[in-house]
Amino acid sequence: MNGNLIVKNAAQLVTCSGFAARQGAAMNDLAIIENGAVKIENGRITAVGPTPEVTAGIDPDAFTVIDASGKAVLPGFVDSHTHFVFGGYRAEEFSWRLRGDSYMDIMARGGGIFSTVEATRKTGREELAATGRARLDSMLAFGVTTVEGKSGYGLDRETEIRQLEVMAELDRGHPVDVVPTFLGAHAVPPEYQGRPDAFIDFIITEVLPEVSERGLAEFCDIFCEDKVFSVAQSRRLLTAAAERGLGITLHADEIVRIGGAELAAELGAVSADHLLQASNEGIAAMAAAGVVATLLPTTAFSLKEPYARGRHMIDAGCAVALATDLNPGSCFSESIPLVVALACLYMNLTPEEAICALTLNGAAAAGRADRVGSIDCGKQGDLVILEFPSYRFIPYHMGVNTVERVIKNGRLVYDRREKEDHAAIY
Ligand code: NIG
Ligand code: FE
Repeated sequence: MNGNLIVKNAAQLVTCSGFAARQGAAMNDLAIIENGAVKIENGRITAVGPTPEVTAGIDPDAFTVIDASGKAVLPGFVDSHTHFVFGGYRAEEFSWRLRGDSYMDIMARGGGIFSTVEATRKTGREELAATGRARLDSMLAFGVTTVEGKSGYGLDRETEIRQLEVMAELDRGHPVDVVPTFLGAHAVPPEYQGRPDAFIDFIITEVLPEVSERGLAEFCDIFCEDKVFSVAQSRRLLTAAAERGLGITLHADEIVRIGGAELAAELGAVSADHLLQASNEGIAAMAAAGVVATLLPTTAFSLKEPYARGRHMIDAGCAVALATDLNPGSCFSESIPLVVALACLYMNLTPEEAICALTLNGAAAAGRADRVGSIDCGKQGDLVILEFPSYRFIPYHMGVNTVERVIKNGRLVYDRREKEDHAAIY
């Protein structure tokens, strides 16, 4: 196939139309076209509309044609917050948490993020790439066509750079687009224990310059959290990163309310993420500054923490995005349907808001709303075809994958019907 594709007769073409995040009430409008069609040429969307209009006068030999009768077609999903490149696993920690140990207590005694740092430092480039590739395959099967991935399991120059280089390699060699984020300030490593400011200095002077000069990251992130990095330390690093042209994003107000949401608004961050404890003032400031609130419901579920106040945030005028936070500790899950079900059931998002959060607003959180996240002319031909006629089946079929086919840049890159006897199931 050459990236020339027509998808026609879609029961619902859920366009999520737009080139910037939708804020507040606008998130409910998915701009759906019934009996819709999309034309993709050389990988780019060139026509969107009702099937008779889009298909009129087309040379059928110039296109691959997919008949999506009875199926909903959506933009490829954007998972805008993950830590998918890492070494080792932490299955034992899951059991410790079940018996009552907290995530931060496990980290304080040298486990948690530090355990993955130890494992990742020892893991070579090829193995990091192989496991990362397998995780991308799984995400693609859930309909994800763009993923943001963070470093942060090196906390030293060599390993942080290795993680970012692996993401660049995967971006080149895998259908899923990878947006790399430098999270060198994910925790204070043992070498700098008790000296967080000295570690921030190290990151700013020894690692950030190479990351930005080599174009290894599009964003800089930090774990702005009680007993990790303060608001002042976060401001220092993120300001230095912004001066070097990186987009800024932060893990904010996840466990303890320390003013991460307010900082995100002050700095004009692209996104602030987690936000379980964000204050009303912080949320209002984010809405006014246009900072995307990226919510990670499977992490709250996994940590048994109260969910972020998604309903309140949208009512306050925020743009909300949803993402998986796939990582080996707080949330070892890339399940998009679980994210959407939890967002609807426990954050009280409507199914429409959840889909907007996973497409256009996810794209905005990843700095790519100009290229992906909606079915609009000029954007990449990245589509998801569900096995059901409505997007409503995504939350309703709780935790189960409803994605049947995935198109990337106008090419069919995943087809579940090749793997399963679909008809035997439904
Ligand atoms: O987003 N909270 C900090 N960082 C990650 C978890 C990383 C880990 O536990 O390995 C998060 O939840
Ligand atoms: Fe995270």
